[in-house]
Amino acid sequence: MKRQILVTNALPYANGPLHLGHMLGYIQADVWVRFQRMRGHEVYYVCADDTHGTPIMLRAQREGIALEQLIASMQVEHARDFADFGIGFDNYYSTHTPENRQFAELIYTRLRDGGHIERREVEQLYDPEAGMFLPDRFIKGTCPRCGAEDQYGDSCEVCGATYAPTELIDPRSAVSGAVPVLRRSEHYFFKLGDFERFLRNWLKEGEHVQPEIANKLREWFEAGLRDWDISRDAPYFGFEIPDAPGKYFYVWLDAPIGYMASFKNLCERIGLDFDAWWRPDTATELYHFIGKDIAYFHTLFWPAMLHGAGFRTPTAIWCNGFLTVDGQKMSKSRGTFIKARTWLEHLAPDYLRYYFAAKLGAGVDDLDLNLEDFVNRVNADLVGKVVNIASRTASFINKRFDNRLADELPDMGLYRAFADSRDQIAQLYERREYAQAMRLIMGLADRANQYIDENKPWVLIKDPERLAEVQAVCTQGLNLFRVIIGYLKPVLPRIAEKVETFFGVGELSWDGVTEPVLGRKVEKFKPLLTRVDPDRIKAIIEASKEDLQTATVAAHEAAPLVADPIAEQIDFDAFAKVDLRVARILKAEEVEGADKLLRLILDLGGETRQVFAGIKSAYAPQQLEGRLTVMVANLAPRKMRFGVSEGMVLAAGPGGKDIFILEPDAGAEPGMRVK
Ligand code: 2FM
Ligand code: ZN
Repeated sequence: MKRQILVTNALPYANGPLHLGHMLGYIQADVWVRFQRMRGHEVYYVCADDTHGTPIMLRAQREGIALEQLIASMQVEHARDFADFGIGFDNYYSTHTPENRQFAELIYTRLRDGGHIERREVEQLYDPEAGMFLPDRFIKGTCPRCGAEDQYGDSCEVCGATYAPTELIDPRSAVSGAVPVLRRSEHYFFKLGDFERFLRNWLKEGEHVQPEIANKLREWFEAGLRDWDISRDAPYFGFEIPDAPGKYFYVWLDAPIGYMASFKNLCERIGLDFDAWWRPDTATELYHFIGKDIAYFHTLFWPAMLHGAGFRTPTAIWCNGFLTVDGQKMSKSRGTFIKARTWLEHLAPDYLRYYFAAKLGAGVDDLDLNLEDFVNRVNADLVGKVVNIASRTASFINKRFDNRLADELPDMGLYRAFADSRDQIAQLYERREYAQAMRLIMGLADRANQYIDENKPWVLIKDPERLAEVQAVCTQGLNLFRVIIGYLKPVLPRIAEKVETFFGVGELSWDGVTEPVLGRKVEKFKPLLTRVDPDRIKAIIEASKEDLQTATVAAHEAAPLVADPIAEQIDFDAFAKVDLRVARILKAEEVEGADKLLRLILDLGGETRQVFAGIKSAYAPQQLEGRLTVMVANLAPRKMRFGVSEGMVLAAGPGGKDIFILEPDAGAEPGMRVK
């Protein structure tokens, strides 16, 4: 059956460049789309820039350029990055378009007429100098919990506290520096609670979201679905609400509507029937690939808005996890905050596409780009296994047989076994279990290499009597290679294209691999991929460090330490014996029967230690995991009631709730010596 499938990716904000964290989600979706296309389904894949909101408005002001100009240039830049990474959108549009305005207005009026919009007054911080209400991120002040200065209005980067901007001590507007004042204004709310029954049923239908997200949804239902504030006061970059002059739709209202706008634009361009895809009873499929951090918007607001406005709801919403680099959050100072363009300037996208695929599953787990593993993996798999099959066989066909393949395969059974793997591999792609698919495909590559090893064309070629055998063995090898490339085509489209050119029998389709290519001439084989030189990675890291324009203030510089009165003095030698090391808290858990202690498992850069620490008053265990601490690494192990403590962690602060451990991204590495 030919399916009709519409796929979207989260719309990137127009106020910044794309980085590798973005690329994870786009590559995941692109692979799925390419796979579905190879299967012969009718697939459309759309995206757009997410252009509205305060940050972009202020950026345009700061840079002294017109908003339209700013978003137009960002759209071009993003579209180019995507294209160069092989992301094959059918349309890359923008949310600042007539189509998007039309759908935003339509959905809003239908929701309003259905009684799902409510108005009420809200009190918020206002910048009297800039003449605007301030989003939380544009208010800075002193953290009400730890006293750290220069913290954002929603959370403290030093102690991790979250709070309302009105709780900040000494608040300032980040726009003008003025002291913000409280001001009331009327806001428009979407009554999400009206859709609780619908959403609970939608969830029960199963398969619309991953199990991890279904659990989250159940938590959200339990916590109660709150009304959603969908309006912002002027000045705001967005669409004005039709019946409310001076009020604008909040960027998150029109962002997902951008999926419809981009598709509508495509429909107009290529003559598709938009309504056939978006009416409630449609048999077409709609999938949104997003990051897990925006699940709330996509699994609650979005289906409710669509349902409330008489449109179809998504077939599924699939979340991916975050990208870490070498086990840690991407960091500008470490040079691991890598822009998509920086990568492209040094390395082909295929390597990264393959590496992501080799590690991606259907879940929401974070994915680690381990740079050493990356080099080893792509070199071993793509160059050492896959490309190797062709490099060992194509040159004989090119040089010794006038480019001609043999008329028959010497081992049809082996070829069949390869072609017969396609259903199993297809199921894995379909379920987004790419890592498993890659393992199967690499297993086939091993078998193909084994076949060549056993038949040794380079030995046979020396015997003039056995030339026909060489041609046959190489034809076999190249046909096995072709099947493998067919299976890898969703991941490596550009390489697949080169291989298609080499064989000259048209595009590889999923079922096309059942027929071997025999008795015809092939092109001259051109190198497909070279080994990744680790120096390229070093260059990427260096270039990413250079990208860092503004120095980031280390978290610990902000908070003055309040010390206890000086204790008995020790001499320097005694102090120098203390081996202080940075450690990462891998695991933290409560200790049964102990009210002050937490059991910590620490990573010292390769070595792990168990330490019992009396910091339970300040931290819940889950707040600690992933963060850094300084530990005394050479303290003699101490047997405690609960187990052996192999060291001691250092934390500073007045005590009680205020004991501070370093942030995960404090610029230090586990194992590093503290001087
Ligand atoms: O989180 C983000 O980057 C948003 N720009 C994603 C929007 S996705 C969709 F709703 F438009
Ligand atoms: Zn704080």
